[in-house]
Amino acid sequence: MSLDRYYRDSVAEVNLTAIESNILQLKKRLKPGTGVYAVVKADAYGHGDIQVAHTALEAGARGLCVALLDEALKLRQEGIEAPILVMGWTRPEDAWLAAKEDIAVTVFQEEWLLEAEKHPFDHPLSIHLKLDTGMGRIGVRSTSEMDRVLAVIDRQPSFILQSVFTHFATADEEEKSYFSHQTKRWEELFGHFKREWSHPVEVHTSNSAASMRFPERMDHFVRFGISMYGLYPSTHVKRERPIDLEPAFSLNSRLIHVKRLEAGESISYGATYTTEEEEWIGTVPLGYADGWIRKLQGMEVLVDGKRQTIVGRICMDQFMIRLDQEYPIGTKVTLIGNQGNQEISADDVADHLDTINYEVPCMISSRVPRVYLRNGKMTEIRNSL
Ligand SMILES: Cc1ncc(COP(=O)(O)O)c(C=O)c1O
Repeated sequence: MSLDRYYRDSVAEVNLTAIESNILQLKKRLKPGTGVYAVVKADAYGHGDIQVAHTALEAGARGLCVALLDEALKLRQEGIEAPILVMGWTRPEDAWLAAKEDIAVTVFQEEWLLEAEKHPFDHPLSIHLKLDTGMGRIGVRSTSEMDRVLAVIDRQPSFILQSVFTHFATADEEEKSYFSHQTKRWEELFGHFKREWSHPVEVHTSNSAASMRFPERMDHFVRFGISMYGLYPSTHVKRERPIDLEPAFSLNSRLIHVKRLEAGESISYGATYTTEEEEWIGTVPLGYADGWIRKLQGMEVLVDGKRQTIVGRICMDQFMIRLDQEYPIGTKVTLIGNQGNQEISADDVADHLDTINYEVPCMISSRVPRVYLRNGKMTEIRNSL
């Protein structure tokens, strides 16, 4: 069931105007002619793939990147006609379907091509050749591997080589030696490619970090992910601040119960928190099934523009906070976002969890409705239950 309404007090707000502004900022920083592909994999990093894809394309993105064929097919089913690249692995037996839907796939193995061509193609398959220059994940690593892949593409008229690309492992770090090592490896492998392949292809090497930090080095297009959502890829890039980003994701709830407890009363499973004095305790209707995981015990939230601490274990659907005073039921609780001059950012949540900000919007589950805002006005609700 999919509803365009919701009946709960915990909601993620996605500011589409911020996404648009982050793309425009990047485009200003890039050389004229360098395009932007918006990375909308993993449900647009938890923000909502369809809504973000439309916004990004309206803001001037040339195409979209996803990780899986299923994600690409969903975009096509929603009527999106822009170029789409699947950056991860597609099963070779499904290549004909990608071709039929005009979805480009990532290729880096000779055996993949030999398997794919066993299935008849009614449409040509667009291929992006991935070079592994040091990420160590997927991609062609040697010139001999590349030659074998190019030989199959060359003799099979259904295979159209559209681009060559790579991915940097440390583009967000202050220390540039590994980035330089990867750049050198890229130059060697891509140099070989240019000698072997005479047809024109496009080139794309960069994620948010590389595209914002080294705009003069960019090629035909960049793959813009985390910073499209208004988050810096690392604390180092945040400090460098190559462009001013505006976070798009906030998470709010409301107090549904407020009580005053005597000293010595315990809170939640395991009775791990006990009041030391008379305390006001509020209950917030959001829990680990919403992605607000148990490790967030001790994290702060905002109530009345003030920081208040999560006490006791986080339950599946609810958690408790220690309040500085009594508040009425229905008072807004901000888990990610601003209240007054206070902010709790996705970076703060990531720091508490000892992880990266990428994980934070991704972990807010589909049980939390997404409300879409444009210029401060609600335009759409997505309730995926
Ligand atoms: C191959 C590839 N390109 C681009 C991106 C986007 O990276 P970012 O979100 O850092 O911009 C990713 C993200 O994981 C990726 O795997």
